This record gives sequence, C-alpha cells and structure tokens, in this order.
Amino acid sequence: MAHPPFDPRHAAHPTGSRPAPILTLKIDGQDVGARSGDTILTVARENDIHIPTLCHLEGLSTLGACRLCLVEVAGANRLLPACVTAVREGMAVTTRSERLQTYRRKLLELFFSERNHVCAVCVSNGHCELQDLADTLGMTHVRYDYLYPPAAIDASHPRFSVDHNRCILCLRCLRACEEIEGAHTWDVMGRGIDCRVITDLNQPWGESESCTGCGKCVQVCPTGALTEKGRAVAEMVKNKEFLPYLRIMRRRTF
Ligand code: SF4
Ligand code: SF4
Ligand code: FES
Repeated sequence: MAHPPFDPRHAAHPTGSRPAPILTLKIDGQDVGARSGDTILTVARENDIHIPTLCHLEGLSTLGACRLCLVEVAGANRLLPACVTAVREGMAVTTRSERLQTYRRKLLELFFSERNHVCAVCVSNGHCELQDLADTLGMTHVRYDYLYPPAAIDASHPRFSVDHNRCILCLRCLRACEEIEGAHTWDVMGRGIDCRVITDLNQPWGESESCTGCGKCVQVCPTGALTEKGRAVAEMVKNKEFLPYLRIMRRRTF
C-alpha cells in the first residue's frame, strides 16, 4: 500500500512521539520554525540567537525568576521572559535593543547591590556567570544603594561551603538537588532581603541527613555561593554539561 505524502506538521517531536505542529515566527527579523509548546528561548538558541539568562539552565525545570532573558514581543504591552514564554504563530520577537540592554543592566545592578559581590575577594572570580554578564552587558557601575544584609558562610560540610553573601537566589541548586539527584536537601526560607537557601530544616549543611554529597548543586551554582573546598580560585570552573544527560537517564529509569 502506498504511504501518504510526508506532512511536516505531523513529524515526531525529537523528545518523544507526540505530533508537533510547526509554527513560524520572526526573531530579530529572521524567519524561524518552532514546535508548539516551545519557548522563545529554546527557539532562539536553536537558531544561534543569544539571549542572556541567569536562573535558566538546560536540563532543569524553568523558573522564570531572574528576568535577564526579557525580550520584546510585538503587540505585548510589557517585556516578556523568553525562558517561560511559549511561541505563537506569527509572533515577532526582538531580543536586542537599547531598551532591553538598559533593563538587563539595571537588573544586574540590582543583583550586585543586594548582597556582597566584591569580585576581587570571591573564590569564583573569573568563573562567575554574574560577573560575565556584567562584563558582556557593559555594566560599569551600580547606581543603587548597597544593602549588604548580614549573611553567613556555612563551611560545616566536609567537601563544600555555602556563602550566602554571593547567592543570587536563582535556585539552580534546589532544582538540581531535587530534580536530578532526588535528594531535595535545599529549600528556601524568608522573604525579600531575608530570603535564604537552606539545607534540610535550616540546619548546618554538614549535619544534613538527606545530602548525598554528590556535588551537583555546587556544579550548577552560577556564582561563588556554592564552592568546593580545597580548590584555588583558578580551579573553580563549574561543570554543568552533565545535566541534560542525567535528566534523560532519570526519565528512562523511572
Ligand atoms: S551535594 Fe548533592 S545531595 Fe547534597 S545538597 Fe548538593 S545536590 Fe543535594
Ligand atoms: S546557592 Fe548558588 S545555585 Fe543556589 S540559589 Fe544561591 S546562587 Fe543560585
Ligand atoms: S533566565 Fe529567564 S527569567 Fe531567568
């Protein structure tokens, strides 16, 4: 029996057998194709269009917390976060404009003003995503008052430390620990300026019974908040390429 002609709208989704209607839209004036349900960020990355991100990490669930990935969408009366905004047929997205750069720089300045990010004395100096973004987005100074809330360092774990002065509350650690390692050691406590990531029921990390010591949270932390003990500043490179693979393995196992 002859097969019906191939219809790309019914092509299988790469991560499963779900039919994926094809949408067309424009990003920065370029025509791109997308699957229904894709986010603007996914489609932009597939087409080598760079959108800055901080809380987003491939392989973890999306949070939409940092707002660094804001883009302009024609017809929308506000800026939208690319990592949690689904594409629509005919959408026109702008990822680069002076307005977006201004907002992104302001957001970075707010991150820098909220806690103590003195890069010169940070163990992750030179290997920090916050620092890299400040550099690439041309942030030259902080025009907000520094808040410097009292924030502790917990070095009770035999292999790792957490310095709350460097934490930007991206919650990558929490998501990696819960979604990849399955330990759910990290949680969040408090509000506003008092908000902190905590281990178990806010006990020292070294006393945590749920922590397996796998180090995944340390590897995904974008700043010097989570670090491995006994490493020099030059060795503080984070390795997070393992995440998408572990996630796929987990899906296959359960
Ligand atoms: S070391 Fe592993 S188990 Fe322990 S808190 Fe980090 S991710 Fe969770
Ligand atoms: S400790 Fe690191 S990974 Fe966790 S919320 Fe803070 S900055 Fe993000
Ligand atoms: S990367 Fe989109 S909100 Fe953080």
